Amino acid sequence: MTKVITYGTYDLFHEGHYRLLQRAKQLGDYLIVGVTTEEYDRTRGKLNVIDSLMTRIDNVKKTGFADEIIIEESTGQKFRDIQKYQIDIFTVGSDWTGQFDYLKDYCEVVYLERTKNISSTMLRTRNKRIQRIGIIGTGRIAERFIPEAKLVSGVSVQGVFNPHQESARRFAKKWEIDAYEKLEEFYEMVDAVYVASPHDTHYGYIKSAIDHGKHVLCEKPMVLERSQAEELFNYAKSKDLVLVEGIKTAYCPGFANLLGVACSGMIGSVRDIEACFTKLEDLESRELTDIKCGGSFTELGSYVMLPVIKLLGREYEQLVFQTVKDEKGLDIFTKAFFKYPNGMATATCGLGVKAEGRLMIAGTKGYIVAEAPWWKTKYFEVHFEDPGKVEKFSDCFLGDGLRYEISDFLSMINGSSKNEFKLTRGESIAMAGIIEGFLKENRYCENMGS
Ligand code: CTP
Repeated sequence: MTKVITYGTYDLFHEGHYRLLQRAKQLGDYLIVGVTTEEYDRTRGKLNVIDSLMTRIDNVKKTGFADEIIIEESTGQKFRDIQKYQIDIFTVGSDWTGQFDYLKDYCEVVYLERTKNISSTMLRTRNKRIQRIGIIGTGRIAERFIPEAKLVSGVSVQGVFNPHQESARRFAKKWEIDAYEKLEEFYEMVDAVYVASPHDTHYGYIKSAIDHGKHVLCEKPMVLERSQAEELFNYAKSKDLVLVEGIKTAYCPGFANLLGVACSGMIGSVRDIEACFTKLEDLESRELTDIKCGGSFTELGSYVMLPVIKLLGREYEQLVFQTVKDEKGLDIFTKAFFKYPNGMATATCGLGVKAEGRLMIAGTKGYIVAEAPWWKTKYFEVHFEDPGKVEKFSDCFLGDGLRYEISDFLSMINGSSKNEFKLTRGESIAMAGIIEGFLKENRYCENMGS
């Protein structure tokens, strides 16, 4: 019996997939089809897959060509499957020609001609206009956004707005996009906005973007007051627009996996979380000189609050801040202590103070530990009472990681709510409330607000 194997995502099942499977089946007597998991697709940079794994498997099944369907979840699996299932022929479409020649030592490798003029990518973007994104702000994070957005099919960065026209022009020239001096003209040319301006300008820009009917992805912290977050989410909803706070950790595959493990029961019930993120910054940097909105907690608090709010929730009984301040009164090291009915947490951040940046989640059966940079989670371990027993998990985190939040933002614009759980409106509102409380205690709150 000749055994054949082939792999694919099979998103939005189309004629190209059907013809590939038909010919794959004709190559032998028994066909095994590997269907990729969503996590695996994300780690290899294939974002925006629309159909669920079950739907994709179902569609492959319906063709009647597959004798067996397996799940493909990691790189290197093909090599193992070929030996495990004693495969005679490995086949894929000609778009992969040459890329699987390394398997020739183990079986025959056949590249079947790809069906022309059809692909899942084409179907995903058909009827969906490419979303033209405009960037507000020209700082470091805006610089990182453009190369990441290029990797997400379905979006294009159209232009940039900065009231400082020279900065806008310089930025636009570097990235070969348009610079806009007037906000009205900028809004006319874009469908969605990425807000990467100074924190205290976020509220005003988000509001005006929504006024103009634009979807918004806003850098963290989205706003500095709870009521502002509530108002903006309600406003966006009333106009059927998407508003997302861009805490990139929330959208990265490794962190999602870590939360999944924490909730799976593997470590029992969560009782304590310690999250720490510190950064040494130039003393002249905005973060350490902006007396109103700089400082460690406004800069990094969103990252360290995230695992706490995600795992222990928003209903804490007590929240206490302790800070170390510089001579200007700006917090350079902050600890937020949370007390819950059945647990507690410490969210620690520092700017200009270096500490071991790790995330530790203690439970009644074991604990999870992820070392810095856990906010770009690639690897974490689960430890138990028996020190010899350690479970290890790794995930891919590609580039600067903004591609994951951009891709989820796009899928929300296109009507899918499947990724909204990664950072809910309620969680963003709760974090805005915590930042508000922190600033009231530690800053000159009369200057705050819109
Ligand atoms: N395939 C094909 N002809 C097409 C599209 C896909 O023969 N027009 C083959 C691929 O070469 C692969 C299998 O179908 O062997 C599954 O491909 P998959 O990546 O799921 O489909 P694509 O349409 O190429 O997906 P995408 O656009 O997301 O890359």
